[in-house]
Amino acid sequence: MASKLWEKKTRVDSDIERYTIGRDAEMDMFLAPYDVLGSMAHATMLESIGLLSKQDLDQILAGLKAIYANIEAGNFEIEDGVEDIHSQVEMLLGEVGKKLHSGRSRNDQVLVDLRLYTRAKLQEVVQEVKGLFDALIAQSERYKHVLLPGYTHLQIAMPSSFGLWFGAYAESLLDDMQLLLSAYKIVNRNPLGSAAGYGNSFPLNRQLTTDLLGFDSMDYNVVYAQMGRGKTERIVASALASVAGTISKLAFDSCMYTSQNFGFLKLADQFTTGSSIMPHKKNPDVFELTRAKCNKLQGVPQQITMIINNLPSGYFRDLQIIKEVYLPMFDEMIDILVMTRSMIEQIQVNENILNDSKYDLIFSVEEVNKRTLAGTPFRDAYKQVGLEIEAGNFTPDKNIAHTHQGSIGNLCNEQIQGLMQEVLSGFSFQKVEQAQQNLLK
Ligand code: ARG
Repeated sequence: MASKLWEKKTRVDSDIERYTIGRDAEMDMFLAPYDVLGSMAHATMLESIGLLSKQDLDQILAGLKAIYANIEAGNFEIEDGVEDIHSQVEMLLGEVGKKLHSGRSRNDQVLVDLRLYTRAKLQEVVQEVKGLFDALIAQSERYKHVLLPGYTHLQIAMPSSFGLWFGAYAESLLDDMQLLLSAYKIVNRNPLGSAAGYGNSFPLNRQLTTDLLGFDSMDYNVVYAQMGRGKTERIVASALASVAGTISKLAFDSCMYTSQNFGFLKLADQFTTGSSIMPHKKNPDVFELTRAKCNKLQGVPQQITMIINNLPSGYFRDLQIIKEVYLPMFDEMIDILVMTRSMIEQIQVNENILNDSKYDLIFSVEEVNKRTLAGTPFRDAYKQVGLEIEAGNFTPDKNIAHTHQGSIGNLCNEQIQGLMQEVLSGFSFQKVEQAQQNLLK
């Protein structure tokens, strides 16, 4: 059993150690590179206020860079019995590592690790959401003249189009992106220096670590910085859950539209799976799994809420458990986004859906509107057409002209793309990348 950073006379019982460390060895691997970056900034700051000599700083930075390189190369692990990433890095630094923890607690260390990890992963998610958005807009434009029945209550209702259908999911991602931006802005503040949650007596230069780590600003109040643990994760998880909600609906529509009873869409063969007994089957398993994975992700904010529910201010070990539900969420989301994008890019559209007379009645409102334009009051025209339908002598005119903004004939995809660009310009990815490069050079 390796000794603990905090161990004094009493030895730690191994069952209790296993219980308290829990899954940290696995979870903290997500945080490893960010723990190192946070330590680089902290050490640089300690030297600037005279708490480390230049020589010690150089030695610590060289050690941290070597650890970072090992992490990047996949040659790093949290050794058996070592409590967490914070302990592992400090131990690897050897003698000089003992000077690194002045003015810091693992409580603010894990806070800053989580912020840096989240910030980096949000960037990946944003890029993939934009990729899916672009694919949906492209399909919307490509199939803007292909009509499709629109449903309310799953009863045929009005004419719709693939231009509208694909474009609707693009616009949904626009709103999700807005939530991702809000989450990003909340994440992009520096909690380092709050130490155990109450600051401390060293004259820390928190602005310096804020700048070194490329944060927009800091969480000023040290008590609030600690209170942000769990709250921040819940906010980010909610933004991801919103993306997941969009894709889950898209997945359900897609499964339904590929069913023979609809026959609106056809999945590329590689996205379908067969049956062990029915030789004809091509099942939309990839979309079904996408739907379930998305629904699982939508439960994460609730799980976090339950873990932090009713905790008072200050640090509690409860917070450690959040990592298990939160950290893996990003890679799952990215996986879903990549898969969905490639399914959307390769999906085939049935261009002749409305030739089938079972959809004729979706043109009833077109007929009512035509008569209204010719001078019949709307309610009277509605009645006339309704009676004709009941008598079985309604003939649809399938040449429709919808012109208002956001309708079949005027999708406004350019406006939707403009709004997306506006949201994207709010992310400060370049500044963050620059800060990281400066730290590592
Ligand atoms: N593994 C801990 C966590 O994730 C690190 C902080 C430990 N702090 C403490 N006071 N025990 O929260």
